[in-house]
Amino acid sequence: MKYMGGKSALLRGSLGDLVLEEAEGADRFVDLFSGAGSVGHFVAERAARPVLSADLQTYSKVLSAVIVERVRSLEQSLVISSWLAAARKQYDDDAVVARLRIEETVLSAHSVRVARQRASEVEGRRLTRHYGGHYFAPLQALAFDHMLSGMPEDLEIRTLALAAVIRAASACAAAPGHTAQPFQPTGTLLPYIRAAWKRDAFGEVQRQLDALAPRHARVRGHARVSDAEAVAGTLSEGDLAFCDPPYSSVQYSRFYHVLEGIARGGWDTVSGAGRAPARGDRASSDFSRRTAAVQSLTGLLQVLRLRGCQVMITFPDGNSSNGLSAAKIVELAKAQWHVTSTLVDSTHSTLGGRSEDARGGRRKLKEAVIVLRPKQGMIAVAMNTPPATKDGLNAGSTASRLSEAAAS
Ligand SMILES: C[S@@+](CC[C@H](N)C(=O)[O-])C[C@H]1O[C@@H](n2cnc3c(N)ncnc32)[C@H](O)[C@@H]1O
Repeated sequence: MKYMGGKSALLRGSLGDLVLEEAEGADRFVDLFSGAGSVGHFVAERAARPVLSADLQTYSKVLSAVIVERVRSLEQSLVISSWLAAARKQYDDDAVVARLRIEETVLSAHSVRVARQRASEVEGRRLTRHYGGHYFAPLQALAFDHMLSGMPEDLEIRTLALAAVIRAASACAAAPGHTAQPFQPTGTLLPYIRAAWKRDAFGEVQRQLDALAPRHARVRGHARVSDAEAVAGTLSEGDLAFCDPPYSSVQYSRFYHVLEGIARGGWDTVSGAGRAPARGDRASSDFSRRTAAVQSLTGLLQVLRLRGCQVMITFPDGNSSNGLSAAKIVELAKAQWHVTSTLVDSTHSTLGGRSEDARGGRRKLKEAVIVLRPKQGMIAVAMNTPPATKDGLNAGSTASRLSEAAAS
């Protein structure tokens, strides 16, 4: 699946070896910025270690959970095949289908406008109303609506179904690899809309199910929606914390609100050309704020140091639009950690960001893989602090105690 900053390609190279090597020495692998879930999946399928995955976004929890929380194959699941067959039947029987079908063989700007209008009039189907004629052909959106309306009850199976729908929606979207805004029906972009709208939503979901169902973790782990620092406050010495924080000053929630909407069963309302929910409904991260990213990473490192865990960080080599860089991270860490940094080849999406990023494209660069091992002198200080509560709420206060102790 395409995901900005996603590590699936890099894991096939030396990043994969480095991650597995570190994971073998840990009791648990903790992916603190799990995104599309590729790192957690990689470790869960290969190492006999539980994986804990966390991210601010609900779709990310689903995409991680589908592998890290499951220890059996669902390849032959009758529940899954009946769910998809029932959704297909409901769709075939839905009277709205005839109204939403686009008759023209060649899609035009006019037919896109008509499709949008008709989809917006459909009652009781949120994805069709909100995204039909924009990100998806009206009938693709209707198919997704029917899939979501009859989800299996069993949590493990429902997670598989939902992850397949989210990944299929990402593959079908008439948008440039993310869902900040759909393609508009201009002369240049109409062929892309046409190609995206031609994809069979049921076929794409089946393809995702075929790929995901046989895969599972070796040991059961857990995925949650949570802030990285809150989770960090609950960790302990045996944990390896993997950090792949944002590198852009643009919020991830701005780029993936459609996937988030699907994961949450649709938004109440959406607006604008991007068909986005209100800004207040979207997760917001200080790691994606130029004025706050360095401070956020400093705070996270302090908590991780306090908890005594091993840490692995991946970050683009060079300056990023949120003001962080691999060099800056090494600089922040070296007082309290033994630091080793390895450069691996990478390409990065610019997230359509400003400043030093070339707008809207991808650029080749190196990715730094930074491994931090706690310096011995600091461990006694960390061990004198009380354990974090289950939800990590005392993480901030213990972090500041560590800084005070280090300073004195
Ligand atoms: C570079 S992406 C991670 C990509 C991931 N490693 C993968 O392979 O798909 C960064 C992720 O951090 C998440 N994020 C941003 N701020 C966060 C925070 N404070 N706590 C947890 N996750 C956060 C974003 O939602 C995004 O999914």
